[in-house]
Amino acid sequence: MASSLIGGLLASGWSADSILAADPEAATRAAVEDRFGILTSSANADVAKHADIVVLSVKPQIMRIVAQDLAPCLQSEQTAVSIAAGIPAAALKRWLGGDTSPGIVRAMPNTPALLGEGATGLYAHGAVSDAGRQATTDMFDAVGITTWVEQEVALDWIIAVAGSAPAYYFAFMEAIAAAGAKLGLPADEAQRLTISTALGAARMAAEAGEAPAELRRRVTSPGGTTAEAIKHFEQYGLPDLVAGAMDAAVARAGEMAKEFDEGA
Ligand SMILES: NC(=O)c1ccc[n+]([C@@H]2O[C@H](COP(=O)([O-])OP(=O)(O)OC[C@H]3O[C@@H](n4cnc5c(N)ncnc54)[C@H](OP(=O)(O)O)[C@@H]3O)[C@@H](O)[C@H]2O)c1
Repeated sequence: MASSLIGGLLASGWSADSILAADPEAATRAAVEDRFGILTSSANADVAKHADIVVLSVKPQIMRIVAQDLAPCLQSEQTAVSIAAGIPAAALKRWLGGDTSPGIVRAMPNTPALLGEGATGLYAHGAVSDAGRQATTDMFDAVGITTWVEQEVALDWIIAVAGSAPAYYFAFMEAIAAAGAKLGLPADEAQRLTISTALGAARMAAEAGEAPAELRRRVTSPGGTTAEAIKHFEQYGLPDLVAGAMDAAVARAGEMAKEFDEGA
């Protein structure tokens, strides 16, 4: 994730000397320096103490130790942006020094950010400077679209709509390709047709300026083949099935936040 953010920032005009990165592995640092032409360090504190915005892009399991190590060298004028799923902002604030912590932002990006097509939810916990908000917006706008939410719980809703959602589309593609193969198409051709159709449909939805419901109506001639397929989805409750899956994702996000908070 950190590499895609760095790539996105450079592509959107940030200079290489405005970005520093830290990683414990020499091989990772060398690869990042080679690829992006930015400076790196093995010491998180060396990098973080110079930064207006400190992006915490480590696995949730090690966030606590990384944040607590950084706390002594961070100032309240800085902004810390965590992209770790499931770590509540209050826990981050505690780990980063409590009352003396930097401004805290939680970001919830999704994997298409790796291609510059991400969708990211952002939440500011307490006071975050205008400059901190703007730089955070710029950073995630560079890898897709962004939206700020007023309440932290809305990040869990964004997990359901965007964070976990690439997998829903993959599951749908998987099901269509498998059904195509069952009908008699060669499996690789069914998959190729499925992926191309998904890409085309997503581009039409993104570029047509019409809601998906309207696009669906337009391609559904009364009495035609698509109408029969859509009738089947409706009969078997596709909207309820999807809503139930998203409720389950939100519930799991809540449980994970509790686990990390209790472990803090
Ligand atoms: N991948 C996604 O699409 C996605 C989406 C939303 C949110 N997130 C969140 O983004 C965070 C990063 O995920 P990721 O997939 O990018 O993980 P990742 O590929 O494992 O990247 C984590 C990086 O942190 C480095 N690291 C390990 N220990 C460190 C330490 N003590 N100090 C500094 N750096 C350290 C790792 O270095 P080495 O590997 O060199 O040891 C690795 O380069 C996670 O919290 C995840 O929940 C990811």
